[in-house]
Amino acid sequence: MTMDGSAGLRLAVAGASGLIGSQVASLAREAGHEVVALNRSAGVDLTDPDSIGDRLDGVSTIIDVTRPDGMDEAAATDFFTTVSTTLARAAREAGVPRTVVLSIVGIEESQDFPWYRATLAHERATLAQAPGPRVLRATQFHEFPGQVLERSRGGGRADIMDMPTQPVASAEVARTLLEMATEAEGGDRRLGGPQPEQLVELVREWCRLRGDDVHVVAVPAAASMSGGSVLPGPDADLRGPTWRDWAQAQTGQRPA
Ligand SMILES: NC(=O)c1ccc[n+]([C@@H]2O[C@H](COP(=O)([O-])OP(=O)(O)OC[C@H]3O[C@@H](n4cnc5c(N)ncnc54)[C@H](OP(=O)(O)O)[C@@H]3O)[C@@H](O)[C@H]2O)c1
Repeated sequence: MTMDGSAGLRLAVAGASGLIGSQVASLAREAGHEVVALNRSAGVDLTDPDSIGDRLDGVSTIIDVTRPDGMDEAAATDFFTTVSTTLARAAREAGVPRTVVLSIVGIEESQDFPWYRATLAHERATLAQAPGPRVLRATQFHEFPGQVLERSRGGGRADIMDMPTQPVASAEVARTLLEMATEAEGGDRRLGGPQPEQLVELVREWCRLRGDDVHVVAVPAAASMSGGSVLPGPDADLRGPTWRDWAQAQTGQRPA
């Protein structure tokens, strides 16, 4: 039962244990919906076409927020296209009318960056195969500077791409996905944070707030991205908080 007294929906979250998926699942349950988790730790490997079984019976929307374990382009492309195909086939068989997939702002313009070729394959495979597809394209999450720091560090230094970004709170991404999954009508959406930032500066600030003395070095990004291809553009929905307000809440320290 939802807050307005209507019956809750049955929603499937592919990637329900991840950064975004866990927040979507919590918000959905708080709103009175039932959540079907589709991820390996819930017993479903979406690279296995037979893994879903009858879990989609009665589901009204699949929310796909999966991500592969590594960042190799070929492996990630294979993962995303296989997962999209598995979900789309299972959706058609179970009569699930809608799939909402999370993608990234600006990836069509950023095809000189290998990871974005893989994520565009995810979006396109969903659009081509899933019943009732809707795409949310979001900018980098507020967690992104910390994520690239961990992926890049070694030998006391971290090489960070020199590029602008307009990060958004992952909580707002989750909220928007749930809106798109449950509203009666609507198309694709774009979502960004409130203001543009330089990724290298955010990584340095994140290190300072956490007392991490790793040496952060700015290195060239793909040409498209250093030119601003992953900024949200004028037609995006922009939602706060700012990265600095978010970082202060996370660390208890005041950013510069
Ligand atoms: N990072 C950013 O700034 C950013 C910005 C915009 C969009 N995005 C996109 O947002 C999406 C979600 O990102 P995230 O950070 O929430 O990812 P994440 O935390 O890495 O979560 C990935 C999820 O995928 C599941 N998964 C992985 N392999 C699976 C498999 N074989 N079968 C079933 N489930 C599997 C994982 O669960 P198990 O391990 O339990 O299987 C986990 O729940 C990604 O597609 C990403 O490209 C990211």
